[in-house]
Amino acid sequence: MSYQLLKGKRGIIFGALDSNSIAWKVAQRAHEEGAQFVLSNAPVALRLGTIAQLAEECNTIVIPADATSVEDLENLFTKSIEHLGGKIDFVLHSIGMSPNVRKGKPYTALDYDLYHKTLDISSMSLHKVLQTAQRLDAISEWGSVVALSYIAAQRVFPDYNDMADAKSMLESIARSYGYQYGKFRKVRVNTISQSPTKTTAGSGVKGFGAFFNYAEAISPLGNADSLSCADYCITLFSDLTRMVTMQNLFHDGGFSFTGVSNEVMQKFEDPA
Ligand SMILES: NC(=O)c1ccc[n+]([C@@H]2O[C@H](COP(=O)([O-])OP(=O)(O)OC[C@H]3O[C@@H](n4cnc5c(N)ncnc54)[C@H](O)[C@@H]3O)[C@@H](O)[C@H]2O)c1
Repeated sequence: MSYQLLKGKRGIIFGALDSNSIAWKVAQRAHEEGAQFVLSNAPVALRLGTIAQLAEECNTIVIPADATSVEDLENLFTKSIEHLGGKIDFVLHSIGMSPNVRKGKPYTALDYDLYHKTLDISSMSLHKVLQTAQRLDAISEWGSVVALSYIAAQRVFPDYNDMADAKSMLESIARSYGYQYGKFRKVRVNTISQSPTKTTAGSGVKGFGAFFNYAEAISPLGNADSLSCADYCITLFSDLTRMVTMQNLFHDGGFSFTGVSNEVMQKFEDPA
């Protein structure tokens, strides 16, 4: 259902790789809600993915940008403003990647060059997006920036590896920059801490299936899927959440505040 919550708003959506991507669903929902936006992803992802189809569906263009490159980000903001005909009202940062996870390095034997890359791609890129936007004064007053996180930022999920550190840093940047950008232009910055979701990034985590099923069994509402995550992003881009900033918002069907569920208790019942 469309409420036209984003009518007249201009955005940039990072991270749509294929139709499973959370950003893909956000783009489809933003389009339904009347927004105009530019899609962006790393040049290498553009070659692998199917983002051109999404651009056609949403009647927009793709501007490549490696989110670790300030030069690429400058070009992206400048061209997006030109293409959309005005400053940006919302940004989705849906970017995450750990080369250590990709290469199967456990947390106790990390490669430190790769660890730097994990943090640069998955966390510092949010700072680079915000600092570049502020320098170019590219985001309108009361604009909204949302980045996607995971509860491994607060609690240990051993196989989430160095991405746990990346997500802690991401949430910290959202708080720290949220203060700065709030003062500068009343721009709000938040993270959404999403349930495990079946996507390329999600499925790359060791034991993802067990992870997913465990969260499903714990959460009273079950796992939140990517479409409901997209709906939540839309509310945060809309004018209905103008005073929400510097928050990490759990979107996880209640997982984060559930100690144990009846389903999990049954599995551990003492047969004696
Ligand atoms: N899938 C899950 O279980 C889950 C749960 C919580 C949070 N998240 C987060 O949601 C976000 C989106 O992930 P997803 O699950 O949709 O998977 P995805 O693999 O579809 O999206 C990750 C995106 O990051 C992009 N990316 C990687 N390196 C980049 C770079 N240098 N510059 C620009 N883009 C780059 C990829 O091309 C891809 O489009 C990530 O931050 C992820 O950590 C995912």
